[in-house]
Amino acid sequence: MEQLRFSHTPKIWLILALLGAAIFLVSCGNTPEITATPSPEFECPELTCPKPVSYEELWSSSAHADTTAEAFTHWDEDDPQEIPVECAKCHSRPGFIDFLGVDGTKEGIVDNPSDIGTTVTCFVCHNEITMVLDDVTFPSGVRISHLGPEVRCILCHQGRASTDTVEEAILGLDLTDDDAPSDELEFINSHSISGATPFGSQVNAAFEYKGRQYQGRFERGEDFFDCLRCHDQHSLELKVETCSECHTFNGTDVKDIRVDTTDFDGDGDIQEGIAYEIESLHELLYRAIQVYAKETIGNPIAFDASTYPYFFVDINDDGEINAEEAISENNYNTWSPRLLRAAYNYNYISHDPGAFAHNSDYILQVLFDSLADIGGDTDDLHRP
Ligand code: HEC
Ligand code: HEC
Ligand code: HEC
Ligand code: HEC
Ligand code: HEC
Repeated sequence: MEQLRFSHTPKIWLILALLGAAIFLVSCGNTPEITATPSPEFECPELTCPKPVSYEELWSSSAHADTTAEAFTHWDEDDPQEIPVECAKCHSRPGFIDFLGVDGTKEGIVDNPSDIGTTVTCFVCHNEITMVLDDVTFPSGVRISHLGPEVRCILCHQGRASTDTVEEAILGLDLTDDDAPSDELEFINSHSISGATPFGSQVNAAFEYKGRQYQGRFERGEDFFDCLRCHDQHSLELKVETCSECHTFNGTDVKDIRVDTTDFDGDGDIQEGIAYEIESLHELLYRAIQVYAKETIGNPIAFDASTYPYFFVDINDDGEINAEEAISENNYNTWSPRLLRAAYNYNYISHDPGAFAHNSDYILQVLFDSLADIGGDTDDLHRP
């Protein structure tokens, strides 16, 4: 279509009008056709004709371009007004460029704090380094090689902790009694970790209990899906239409997808999507964490996914979180090693809304083991 040139003969206009109508019919109501940015010569022959959607437009509508998002404005009121070295890589354009070494600084680390006010722009993903990058090192130290263009995604969505981070914090304080609370032990936040889940125990991003086996990469048949098989790299939207090639579901709600017919949560329903099996176990884990905190530690706990550091003292002991409780001064501060491990996993899954599709087996295993360890009832449950 970029090749179209306008001539002044009426016949051409007629053809163009018909073509316009055809494009309109094909495009309207369907997902708009995706092409590169149209060349300047191209004009839409009919007012009603939707223009091809450019990469620019797809990107502008995405979370990566959202200048108002908390993920890009969190540091706006700080003094000095800058994004610190440990946050800049994933939360700013200059930080990622610095990490890659495109700005002439050392590769693989962020050297400088970054200016505020940027997002994940075209250059973040399209530069001379990202073009050839094919490996990524996870917070566990495990390096995965021979990857494709999705390396960029994983670099920012890999999370910030692993089994080792949790275990080292416990060992570092010489805590030998799993049930003894320590006021020095702090909560460990996996942070946004969707990019690690598909690799499972290859990169140990969840807390993996000793002596248990965990699912590695989540393979579909022979196939390991990279991020871009399911997410559009510019709009970030899920390519829902591609799921129906292999899955039977209503075509819109991917949470209804299910392959495995084991009744993991023991509710007798093996028709519900695997997402709901995971939700049940996640909910059971929360209740078990609350019982343990109250009965074994003697300090009730509650969770709020949207307020850092997520776990707070449940002051009125009603099992719910309220606005007075969800404040940083009231952060939960009597962690025992056992409670920390389970809470790390609970929060991990809360912060990967795609866990059911990223690696259902790994997540179900992690939930089952966390529940069993913290004293939850697993009699009716099944571990993959
Ligand atoms: C390895 C990459 C990475 C690092 C390093 C990182 N973040 Fe994030 N952070 C993310 C990603 C990715 C998201 C987006 C989460 C989503 O919406 O899926 C995010 C989201 C956030 C949000 C938005 C609210 C939320 O919780 O989702 C805040 C606030 C935030 N990060 C703070 C920080 C701070 C503070 C630091 C430094 C101490 C930091 N981040 C370091 C990757 C990172
Ligand atoms: C979050 C990362 C990311 C951002 C931001 C991003 N892209 Fe891309 N883009 C990709 C990936 C991944 C591909 C596919 C692999 C490749 O070609 O490198 C791609 C492909 C492309 C292609 C080649 C398409 C093809 O089929 O060969 C163009 C052109 C492009 N992007 C333009 C842009 C423009 C313009 C912007 C900014 C408006 C942008 N991209 C922002 C990740 C990104
Ligand atoms: C430089 C770091 C960076 C890179 C590279 C990056 N992301 Fe992101 N991504 C973020 C941050 C930060 C957010 C949160 C933005 C917001 O809340 O608006 C985010 C948001 C998202 C979201 C939406 C989450 C939501 O809350 O709606 C998806 C999906 C996503 N990214 C997927 C990808 C994919 C796929 C790629 C690779 C093509 C990629 N990201 C590359 C940092 C990055
Ligand atoms: C099998 C398909 C599939 C693959 C492969 C996949 N995802 Fe996802 N992802 C999903 C689904 C489904 C969701 C749930 C969100 C939704 O329904 O929109 C999701 C959610 C996410 C989110 C959170 C979006 C939000 O709304 O907060 C991020 C970030 C993300 N994925 C990043 C990645 C990254 C990075 C990779 C590659 C390592 C990846 N995904 C691979 C299917 C997939
Ligand atoms: C090429 C075929 C194929 C496509 C396309 C595909 N999947 Fe899958 N998917 C599979 C297979 C095979 C499995 C089972 C893997 C296993 O458990 O060994 C699976 C498993 C799943 C599971 C876990 C089900 C369970 O019971 O544990 C979810 C959720 C899922 N896929 C979501 C998606 C989504 C969302 C998309 C589209 C973005 C998608 N899949 C596209 C083949 C596919």
